[in-house]
Amino acid sequence: AAVKQYHFDLQVKKVSRLCHSKPIVTVNGMFPGPTLYVREGDRVLVNVTNNAQYNMSIHWHGLKHFRNGWADGPAYITQCPIKTGQAYTYDFNVTGQRGTLWWHAHIFWLRATVYGAIVIMPKPGTPYPFPQPNLEFNLLLGEWWNTDVEEVVKEGTKRGLPPNMSDAHTFNGKPGPLFPCSEKHTFVIEVEQGKTYLIRIINAALNDELFFAIAGHTMTVVEIDAVYTKPFTTQAILIAPGQTTNVFIQANQVPNRYFMAARPFIDVPLSIDNKTATAILQYKGIPNSILPTLPVLPASNDSAFALKYISKLRSLNSLQFPANVPLNVDRHLFYTIGLGKNPCPTCQNGSQLAASLNNISFVMPPVGLLEAHYFNKSGVFTTDFPDRPPVTFNYTGAPLTANLKTSLGTRLSRISFNSTVELVLQDTNLLTVESHPFHLHGYNFFVVGTGIGNFDPKKDPAKFNLVDPPERNTVGVPTGGWTAIRFRADNPGVWLMHCHLELHTTWGLKTAFVVDNGKGPGQSVLPPPKDLPPC
Ligand code: C2O
Repeated sequence: AAVKQYHFDLQVKKVSRLCHSKPIVTVNGMFPGPTLYVREGDRVLVNVTNNAQYNMSIHWHGLKHFRNGWADGPAYITQCPIKTGQAYTYDFNVTGQRGTLWWHAHIFWLRATVYGAIVIMPKPGTPYPFPQPNLEFNLLLGEWWNTDVEEVVKEGTKRGLPPNMSDAHTFNGKPGPLFPCSEKHTFVIEVEQGKTYLIRIINAALNDELFFAIAGHTMTVVEIDAVYTKPFTTQAILIAPGQTTNVFIQANQVPNRYFMAARPFIDVPLSIDNKTATAILQYKGIPNSILPTLPVLPASNDSAFALKYISKLRSLNSLQFPANVPLNVDRHLFYTIGLGKNPCPTCQNGSQLAASLNNISFVMPPVGLLEAHYFNKSGVFTTDFPDRPPVTFNYTGAPLTANLKTSLGTRLSRISFNSTVELVLQDTNLLTVESHPFHLHGYNFFVVGTGIGNFDPKKDPAKFNLVDPPERNTVGVPTGGWTAIRFRADNPGVWLMHCHLELHTTWGLKTAFVVDNGKGPGQSVLPPPKDLPPC
């Protein structure tokens, strides 16, 4: 194992896209930011120096940070922000994980431009379970706004409806030639006939689940969220914000230029976002003047494709990489996901929206929750988050206008060390049904079941996949449906769980788990680093 050191200098830089130029926050002047190349077993030190005029924090999405939430990054959860002029060194070990993950700002909406890939190579001697690809490249899908993030957020919280929809989707920060003034902002990858490529696809978009396809080429999915899967081939993939997907492609077509394309999957009627980002797969020796063809993408509202695609995702579950699904459950949790009215007195007379779990909309604390937990500071949070919603109703029935009132609070759920948890996330039709990609910090979980309509505790568990369910860190709860996950609470600390749609997170669609220390050695939260930023 090695020590890998990185320096992230957060600085504002002018960048032009879509015929506009605006200052954005970058890491080392790069957009997207640098890729971390590490190996399983490495210790990683990332010194983050904040020279931008924004409070900042960085999250290493999908890394487990065993006992070491201090390096996890979500502002006011595991640390206070790194203020302008300050620095903080994220110090963490990469243990028991290999594959593609990513990092992003975890404060405000700054991850719009502050994000990058994490590539974890397997330990030497750990065989790769698939034929080695010849070459590889990263595709980070993102969103671009012509206005400042502040403006976007203001709009979003003011009207409580979809905020200024982004002006473009992007590949590695570039929208591609279907957008105005974007000819030179097109990501082009040159491939060689006969070679196999591994593409590491990351959805860094703020608010959109995306379909992705490559003209003329099928993809073989081999990994999601840094966990190997049973390989399957597909024309298109579906990827939610926060998720990563590794695919193989063969450069075995007529040498030409082929478009890679991404556009949103939205099966809610109120949306009309149909923008298609493109990048180009260009065979060696083919001139730039040739016009590429577009791939066939599923229609924006093709939930049938989405469900079918999701059902194909299975853990590899080999001898070398077994899926250790918890078979018994110590703690059953059932959380409803709702959009409702914000009861706060200054929130435009209750016309502002709030999003909630079990009718509780999360209120950000003034200091880091992990710090409060570690030092036993009282008055920062409570641990009375209910295991079930306050009322049972037909969650996915006709749109409900009653029961819109959510309550506000920094309420957490307390989990015993090493207990097994099953959490059912149930979408509801409070105002509207919508799909929500949920991300749990500090853990991977197994997605043991999912379905449309209301979860039936009598019938549905019998159909759970406890053999080779997908293991991941972010999962989509389908529009008007539910998803059941299981994990073993073996990582003590305070771990955020939230919808990875930034708009919904802003509206309060999050909570956190306090996982107790164990009694044995090596089972409690490590002491905080000396340079942990103060509030
Ligand atoms: Cu990628 Cu809490 O987020």
